[in-house]
Amino acid sequence: MIVHLTGPDGRSEAVRGAAGDRLLDLAQAYDFPLEGTCGGQMACSTCHVIVDPADHARLPAPSEEEEDMLDFAAGAVATSRLACQIVLDESLDGLRVRVPAGARDARR
Ligand code: FES
Repeated sequence: MIVHLTGPDGRSEAVRGAAGDRLLDLAQAYDFPLEGTCGGQMACSTCHVIVDPADHARLPAPSEEEEDMLDFAAGAVATSRLACQIVLDESLDGLRVRVPAGARDARR
């Protein structure tokens, strides 16, 4: 399936993922600046992404823990999610996601 990723610098790429892939891992594999410091433990919010409003309802609702963590994410909006909590499946083909400005990647 294809996921459309846009970085804080405006770079846009249609990347191919597989069912079961975490969005965080996929975005990192294509060099988008998502730090993901806690490795998916919902303890950092450095994997904050903004889902296109048209696609947001296609995702399962966030857990309470995810919502709590998003409260700490800089620039969070109504369609913000944690990329470590988004697991791809066929129903998400064509998903459009943006890495917000201010994202940084300490892996570099
Ligand atoms: Fe830390 Fe997603 S990687 S909350």
